[in-house]
Amino acid sequence: MRRFRSWLDATPLSGLALDVMREATGRSDPIEPLRPARAVALRRGLRVAFWSLVGGVGTSTTAALVAHRSAGAGGAPVLADLDRWAPSLALRAGVQAATAADALLRPGRERDCLSRWSDVPFLPGAPGLDAMFQSERVVDLLARVAADDALVVDLGAGDDALDAGVLAALDALCVVAGPRASQLQAAFCSVPLLRAVPCRVALVLVGAADTDAQRIAARLPWPLLASIPSDPYLATDAFAARAPTMAAIDRLIGALS
Ligand SMILES: Nc1ncnc2c1ncn2[C@@H]1O[C@H](COP(=O)(O)OP(=O)(O)OP(=O)(O)O)[C@@H](O)[C@H]1O
Ligand SMILES: [Mg+2]
Repeated sequence: MRRFRSWLDATPLSGLALDVMREATGRSDPIEPLRPARAVALRRGLRVAFWSLVGGVGTSTTAALVAHRSAGAGGAPVLADLDRWAPSLALRAGVQAATAADALLRPGRERDCLSRWSDVPFLPGAPGLDAMFQSERVVDLLARVAADDALVVDLGAGDDALDAGVLAALDALCVVAGPRASQLQAAFCSVPLLRAVPCRVALVLVGAADTDAQRIAARLPWPLLASIPSDPYLATDAFAARAPTMAAIDRLIGALS
């Protein structure tokens, strides 16, 4: 084996492998060994939502990554898009199927409205959902589609996404924030809106360098569960992620469960 390694190191293949590792990790030298992070599943029955006061922070992407990574560990949660104005996950998934609005019109048959996004049972959002959003019915819908599985909800953005009934049905609300001035301003402005939230509130940062993440979290009242790095693969909307991004998602799932 050692002789094979020495031979391999002397061939152009080793340089190629280093290039691939640099591309995959986003790091130049020294390259940490690419130890694949161990996927973790969300605890069964856990209900968690992702939200930000402003759009464009990475809320939907983070919610979807958590659901997919948890599914990869053998515990697929139901992923529901409850963005009431501009749901985007169905576009990402390439799914054209029954939506949350359709499911609201089929009491007792809500689970029939679930699609599949790879291994994840998925309830796409509906652009007109705000017009028919009734707290009790939506809470009932979530309970029925998730049943005993874990549930990951993309709540979208804005203060009207913080429905008291839905929040009361959750175990945790993840506030998603970013390092740009407008995103930080949004995070600070969220503090009074979330004072009376009946579930656990936690912070997830997207796109902040590690030291910045600690500094930002120190100024906000919620525990920082994970800092998701800026990922050039995700930035192209391809829904593919680098190894450090997946490791951060694993830490987030571990902290939630
Ligand atoms: N970790 C990341 N690194 C780089 N780009 C990211 C990351 N997460 C998300 N993005 C990109 O940022 C953009 C916004 O992401 P996303 O749609 O998840 O945000 P959002 O907060 O749900 O906003 P909105 O609901 O207003 O669209 C997308 O193009 C997405 O691909
Ligand atoms: Mg979104």
